[in-house]
Amino acid sequence: MKLFVFLALAVATASAIPAPAPRTADGKLIPVPVKDIQGRITNGYPAYEGKVPYIVGLSFSGNSGNWWCGGSIIGNTWVITAGHCTNNADGVTINYGASIRHQPQYTHWVGSGDMIQHHHYNSGNLHNDISLIRTPHVDFWSLVNKVELPSFDDRYNGYGGWWAVASGWGSTCTGCSLPDWLQSVDVQIMSQEDCSNYWSLHENMICINTSGGKSTCGGDSGGPLVTHDGNRLVGLTSYGSGAGCEAGYPAVFTRVTGYLEWIRDNTGISY
Ligand SMILES: *[C@@H]1O[C@H](CO)[C@@H](O)[C@H](O)[C@H]1NC(C)=O
Repeated sequence: MKLFVFLALAVATASAIPAPAPRTADGKLIPVPVKDIQGRITNGYPAYEGKVPYIVGLSFSGNSGNWWCGGSIIGNTWVITAGHCTNNADGVTINYGASIRHQPQYTHWVGSGDMIQHHHYNSGNLHNDISLIRTPHVDFWSLVNKVELPSFDDRYNGYGGWWAVASGWGSTCTGCSLPDWLQSVDVQIMSQEDCSNYWSLHENMICINTSGGKSTCGGDSGGPLVTHDGNRLVGLTSYGSGAGCEAGYPAVFTRVTGYLEWIRDNTGISY
């Protein structure tokens, strides 16, 4: 019923909706991995240097070519990203401490043997869209630092209504000569119930309200969603609607609290 109410509203404001969103038979939106959507963080702002020291730019290579994702440093030898980023990758160049995408403080190259993709990652419905990357040791300073995971005490926190910051470089701009400065956007996390009106939501997914066209977009995949309060990594950019990033549909992230045990078992990191 709520879905029909929404559709009625959508018709009333049809000029603001660029294209009908592809839907499944039951009326839910069809997920498109953010890696495959054109664009970048929409209606955000340039992140000042050192605002997001935990983000890394990930330049993957594989049989199907090269692709770009974001990731987060969660320990001196660990980066976390989305499963659809590491899927079928042979290797990745990790860019640390960058504001301009192609001007990192330094890089490390890591092969697929050091990528731990969740064994139940599903490329169809994007369940368990999470991977770890074991990296050479990095020292922390103002421009390269880790972000903390939620504590086990918060594992059942839904975070509905909380404010958080998402960051990323968006997709490669072919033939673009301007510096590709890191973008951030402040967004509100939606309740699981509200988001389920739009998506067939797995319990280990977390959504943001993209009203005002504020959203993650292509090339932001795998990148961080970090709470304003407490600075905890609660989401990894996963998917959105094929109707586009500014169409106002909720953007979906991998819910980090659903994987705290898996992360601890693979990395030893827990809070
Ligand atoms: C998103 O936030 C806007 C502005 O606060 C609100 O009007 C709208 O109802 C929210 N959308 C959803 C789906 O929760």
